[in-house]
Amino acid sequence: MAIEKVGIVGCGLMGSGIAQVCAAAGFPTVVREVSPELVDKGVKGIEKNLARLVEKGTITESEKAEIRGRLKGTAVIEDLKDCDLIIEAIIEQLPAKRELFAALDRLCTEKTVFASNTSSLTITEIATATTRPQRFVGLHFFNPVPVMKLVEVVKTIATDPSVYEEAVAFGTKLGKVAVRANDSTGFIVNRLLVPYLLDAIRALEEGVGSTEDIDNSMKLGCGHPMGPLTLLDFVGLDTTYYISQIMFDEFKEKRFAAPPLLKRMVLAGWNGRKVGRGFYDYSNPLKPVPLKFLRSLERS
Ligand code: CAA
Repeated sequence: MAIEKVGIVGCGLMGSGIAQVCAAAGFPTVVREVSPELVDKGVKGIEKNLARLVEKGTITESEKAEIRGRLKGTAVIEDLKDCDLIIEAIIEQLPAKRELFAALDRLCTEKTVFASNTSSLTITEIATATTRPQRFVGLHFFNPVPVMKLVEVVKTIATDPSVYEEAVAFGTKLGKVAVRANDSTGFIVNRLLVPYLLDAIRALEEGVGSTEDIDNSMKLGCGHPMGPLTLLDFVGLDTTYYISQIMFDEFKEKRFAAPPLLKRMVLAGWNGRKVGRGFYDYSNPLKPVPLKFLRSLERS
């Protein structure tokens, strides 16, 4: 079955990015949020991104209009009824995801393929909220979705091989490199990324180097676009803490255990760039400065 029309549930940071790339790749796309206000906010964000692409000359004004024309925002879940593929990008909580998919399962035809953008939950456990685990995959995108070239396509022990191949082909049609992963917690990227990010915090805690020196080391020594502490601020400390807890719970391995400093920063609400404070202070977003408090941890 070919995927022609796509539904996205959730129009936050990830959902809006996914909706944008689906519409840009030529798919009629319906994106659903819980209230008209949130629909409006999400769609305005996409329009702003598209306007920036026109300014930069990446797309023309008429291409922008075509992409926008393929996008429909809605607060009504029934509007997803005739979609061939529905990608969920809502809050990272299992009961909320299971409840949503149980409702979609009742609403959609038996042919509709379901996908979750979860970064840490088990696809199998989300899929069993439906009567179609064989038509359920993971499609894990990366922030910022329009820029990052990867999508992890995740299969469970129950996924039908032909549905899986359809999902891989869909990821490729979006212009992404689709990598194949099994339903192991964290898939490929977070399995490797989370211990690395946590270890950067441990290095800071132990006074191995300053915030800037740890970041510059990985940027300039390994060619990463961002150092690990800047990336933690970008991803969100709360998000990383949450993912690490799920991974630690699954594998019971120390490399996934959250360092005490991460826990304390999350408790203090210093969740990174989105709140203006994480390992850096973003009072001037163009010139973030490492937090003074953290400097007291460094060797003199
Ligand atoms: N939306 C759309 N486009 C964006 C964007 C956004 N939010 N942010 C940046 N861009 C675009 C810019 O417009 C620019 O485009 P052009 O090259 O066409 O001009 C391009 O990206 C580069 O941006 P900048 O020059 O402003 O800045 P940069 O070179 O520092 O790049 C970055 C910014 C792309 C975010 C880069 O720093 C980067 O790749 N960082 C690492 C991001 C990363 O690792 N993401 C994965 C996080 S893990 C995750 O998401 C999954 C999980 O489960 C936790």
